[in-house]
Amino acid sequence: MRVVRGAFVRRGDVGQGVLALEGVGLAAIAEAVGTPAYVYSAGQIREQYRTLERALAPVPHRICYSVKANGNLAILALMRSLRAGVDIVSAGELARALAAGFAGPDVVFSGVGKTAAELEAALAARVGLISVESEEELTLLAELVRRSGVGAAVAIRVNPEVTVETHPYTATGERGKKFGVPYDEAESLARRAAQTPGLSLVGLAMHIGSQLTHTAPFVDGTLKLLELVDGLRRCGVETLTTLDLGGGLGIRYQDSDRPPDAAAFADAVLPHVAASGLTVVVEPGRFLVGNAGVLLTRLLYRKRSGGRVIAVVDAGMSDLLRPSHYQAYHEITVDGADGRPREPCDVVGPICESGDFFAMGRNLPRLEVGDLLAVGGAGAYGFVMSSTYNARPRPPEVLVDGDRFAVIRDRETAEDLMRGECPDPAWVRRGRADPRTHRGEGGQPHGGVPR
Ligand SMILES: Cc1ncc(COP(=O)(O)O)c(C=O)c1O
Repeated sequence: MRVVRGAFVRRGDVGQGVLALEGVGLAAIAEAVGTPAYVYSAGQIREQYRTLERALAPVPHRICYSVKANGNLAILALMRSLRAGVDIVSAGELARALAAGFAGPDVVFSGVGKTAAELEAALAARVGLISVESEEELTLLAELVRRSGVGAAVAIRVNPEVTVETHPYTATGERGKKFGVPYDEAESLARRAAQTPGLSLVGLAMHIGSQLTHTAPFVDGTLKLLELVDGLRRCGVETLTTLDLGGGLGIRYQDSDRPPDAAAFADAVLPHVAASGLTVVVEPGRFLVGNAGVLLTRLLYRKRSGGRVIAVVDAGMSDLLRPSHYQAYHEITVDGADGRPREPCDVVGPICESGDFFAMGRNLPRLEVGDLLAVGGAGAYGFVMSSTYNARPRPPEVLVDGDRFAVIRDRETAEDLMRGECPDPAWVRRGRADPRTHRGEGGQPHGGVPR
């Protein structure tokens, strides 16, 4: 029997050689909702969450799930049921969190480019913590607080300037990166925040990268933050309660990956924090949901080119970008293919890009047209990074819990893709539009459908 990475298979329920998440066969889901489709395991998410909870138990802590990893409302509601908070980076993610039932104080707002409108939305929602990433952002926030009369708890997101081993696109805590405040400027900016009327400086934050497979950079970053905490306390700042260590815990995408487990992370980091008396906030995304999801796809065609076997499936880089964007490895399992001879194969999508692939030269059972494939490790940065490139409606999302499953997002339709577009624009002459109503002469909306 093949086991989908990170998923539960109940042999008795699903039979020999059949893929399943928890107690539900993936073929049954594919039959019900079609392919491509994302499928997530609620049980796996709970398990990951509880593992992390147990590991962090020695210190006061809060797990704030990083919405960007998978923002489906049902996933957020599941996180809420586990008593998680959330880490957001946009007003859109704030809206999702509130729609899923989170209260403002459950929310940590990070992000390198928050707009005034987004900060205003955060103030209106009374979010629990705003992580400020630049001097200009602090100035803007102070002004918005003054105007609105709504105060805010803030952290300074520090770039601790540590070295991490991960894909360059997901390394965020190294010198010269766009994220956070440069280390040598962080203390003075924090002091300024502490003195700003309406702001309460409650913490320092970092997020040094994603898919990190060593504990050392977490320790290095934590120590650097704690040095700043000491400096601030020596200067009389008495409001610090929180140390936000960000997300980044890696997962196993393939057998050779050896990320630290939650206990190893906690054992390495927490002893350093304990004496500070600060509450540790972590913002995991991938760790909680990455291996709880698969992308189901079916083989459309099998052909040969230049001596290679090419398997064309019905999912593409528009559905799961990671292989193309990060050259990421995702395990691929084939339903009911036990015992077939194996051969190297390129698994590619239907999109008009040579970068549209899931695996190149992967040793897989000999594929046949109609085969159902499960692309593993697709629960994080999967659907959320999908696009409608090539006018492909995005796939549905399905949640499995025990022996049940539910569609938690419908497959998009061609109508969904065209919503809000206008084939026959009502032109507005430059300078004639009313900026408040976005209407031009004759009261027509800019570019809108003439009424
Ligand atoms: C500020 C912040 N927190 C948390 C995360 C989640 O990271 P991960 O999914 O690696 O845990 C990210 C990811 O980019 C982030 O930018």
